[in-house]
Amino acid sequence: MLALHDVTVRLGGVRVLRDVSLSIETASTIALIGANGAGKTTTLRTIMGLTAMTGRIEFDGIDLTAIAPSRRPKLGIGYAAEDRRLFAGFTVEENIRMPGEVARLSSAELTRRLDRVYDILPELKEMADRPAGAVSGGQGKMVALGRALIIGSKLIMLDEPFQGLAPVLARRYADALRTLRNSDSSLTLIITESNPDLLRKFADRTLVIERGAVRDARPAGADVV
Ligand SMILES: Nc1ncnc2c1ncn2[C@@H]1O[C@H](COP(=O)(O)OP(=O)(O)O)[C@@H](O)[C@H]1O
Ligand SMILES: [Mg+2]
Repeated sequence: MLALHDVTVRLGGVRVLRDVSLSIETASTIALIGANGAGKTTTLRTIMGLTAMTGRIEFDGIDLTAIAPSRRPKLGIGYAAEDRRLFAGFTVEENIRMPGEVARLSSAELTRRLDRVYDILPELKEMADRPAGAVSGGQGKMVALGRALIIGSKLIMLDEPFQGLAPVLARRYADALRTLRNSDSSLTLIITESNPDLLRKFADRTLVIERGAVRDARPAGADVV
């Protein structure tokens, strides 16, 4: 459903993604694991159309590379960037609604989706009217998840969502992701993480990225020798 074919990205003359080919099945949860600088963020940004790449990306049978980045969210792709960039002067709810407004969803559809976000993340409803600039870093990650949910009806990509989350919030965040998966069995999730063990049980499949090259992880517990 999502397939990358020989995707290469050069940044400042360096090949940051190197001939990445992979295909991700609809409704799977993928962990993309790699050390700092391995190319996780670049992979997600490339799928969003935010880098100059060679190669091809297909999504739901269409050539994604031919779709302008600004139109990709409309395909049902939600993305929570690593630096979650909330608009501090807007309320939490305004921040969550914003991608839906940019994608020109009807107000009825936007309300329906917002209700769904609040079903999955009820704590966001409690902070709906607070300025986004006033929420903590961990809460901000929840807001960023809500914002990705508004638009990500098919595919949601979360860039290191667990990074810097206190254990209690990390568990809450993982619970919210489980609720999300249970509420929509066709949803595909791609989650990046630097700790190889954190998402081992949570993901259906683990991909490892090393210096811009992606491969499937060995099955958990399988030793080299
Ligand atoms: N704008 C840029 N110009 C040059 N190199 C970059 C740029 N952005 C990222 N890189 C390099 O690309 C590599 C991959 O970065 P990134 O995708 O952010 O990795 P990760 O998210 O896994 O930490 C790193 O070596 C980083 O230094
Ligand atoms: Mg990164």
